[in-house]
Amino acid sequence: MTADTPVSDQPPSDQPMFDLIVPCAFGLEAVVKRELKGIDIEATISDTGRVSFRGTREMICRANLWLRTADRVLIQVGEFPAGDFDALFETTRNIAWGRLMPVDAAFPVTGRSIKSTLTSVPACQRSVKRAIVDAMMRDHGTQQLPETGPLYKVDVSILKDVATLTVDTTGRSLHRRGYRTHISAAPLKETLASAMVMLSYWRSGKAMIDPFCGSGTIPIEAARIGRNMAPGLDREFACQDWPDYSDELWSDCRSTAAAQALPALEEKILASDINGRVLTAARDNAVRAGVQDDIHFQVMPAAEVSSKRQYGCLITNPPYGQRIGSGPSSRHDDSGFPGYGGDSQEDQELDALYESLPDLFEKLPTWSHYFLTAYPHLERAIGRKADRRRKLYNGRIECTYYQYQGPKPTPQKRSQSGDSD
Ligand SMILES: C[S@@+](CC[C@H](N)C(=O)[O-])C[C@H]1O[C@@H](n2cnc3c(N)ncnc32)[C@H](O)[C@@H]1O
Repeated sequence: MTADTPVSDQPPSDQPMFDLIVPCAFGLEAVVKRELKGIDIEATISDTGRVSFRGTREMICRANLWLRTADRVLIQVGEFPAGDFDALFETTRNIAWGRLMPVDAAFPVTGRSIKSTLTSVPACQRSVKRAIVDAMMRDHGTQQLPETGPLYKVDVSILKDVATLTVDTTGRSLHRRGYRTHISAAPLKETLASAMVMLSYWRSGKAMIDPFCGSGTIPIEAARIGRNMAPGLDREFACQDWPDYSDELWSDCRSTAAAQALPALEEKILASDINGRVLTAARDNAVRAGVQDDIHFQVMPAAEVSSKRQYGCLITNPPYGQRIGSGPSSRHDDSGFPGYGGDSQEDQELDALYESLPDLFEKLPTWSHYFLTAYPHLERAIGRKADRRRKLYNGRIECTYYQYQGPKPTPQKRSQSGDSD
């Protein structure tokens, strides 16, 4: 792209199109792609932790409003070889930045460099900043760039000597829905909780339990999925302040999304935890998320959980101990595996808790069971291999999502399980 080339191409419909990158956590690429398809956006998995599509401003608004499992939506402004500072500076300066950003735009530059000749990230950021300043002065015909206006966060990412320049349309990461002010000691990101639900067989009408619910992230995200509530409706986005995103565009997208929300769930989700204080916080979070009528909260040890309903889904994130979550564990048994057979009281309590999980399978024999944990011996404790295992990250902690599928409902049991097909 050169100074004569617009940041976007003009298709016949007169709607500018943009190349967009949707970063997400490792392991969630296919879920994000499926989510985009669900809002009529065709995307491709372009790399690990990255889904891409081409779209209009309206599609950018829609993706920000609806994506539950992605981190943000970025405009890809350029991608080019940058083996030295001249290439980085000149190619960045040749981009028509003035077509994307108004004269008063604030444009801080962040950066990263991986396996590349240009190793000094601050020097790369400075070079890109200077190049954009030159381009903006050229495109706007001015020497004054006050940077007092809307925020356009620029990022320069150099991987194997190829620079990718992006501008963030999202602002605060998409996992910040706005409802969670109370969090437990080890809360899940909302994006990950949503992904756990989307990777399960649960859907509105089926029974669901989270027996280790903490601040309620999994049941709250499930209720919002079940009610088709757009996750971004209660928050703002960076590109809302951009002059080419009219109030009308945003209000149309928001009102269309709001109109698609469904009434309260017919089958309430059961969310329980042994800690009453944590559960109070979870209730408050559910009220702010608008799903308090969809979830029954109860202080209860997991060992007491039961249900008369058949073919439901137990989706949960049991405790996995601080040491497991904070790096290489000091716990080793004779087999050399960390995290099992440790001596401390915490270790033994954790082992006992996992060894009690088979009781849940016995009490809920027709249910599917899903566990996200960093505890390395869940399958041994349960006494059988999971039907499916996925590596997922809770922040920086590597976890596994163990999926145990329950039996398929027989035709006459289908209505009882919430299955209609
Ligand atoms: C990893 S946290 C769950 C975090 C939750 N997913 C969230 O997003 O906030 C595990 C939870 O299990 C609860 N817990 C620990 N032992 C329990 C037991 N025996 N029965 C039920 N809950 C228990 C803890 O109080 C804690 O809230």
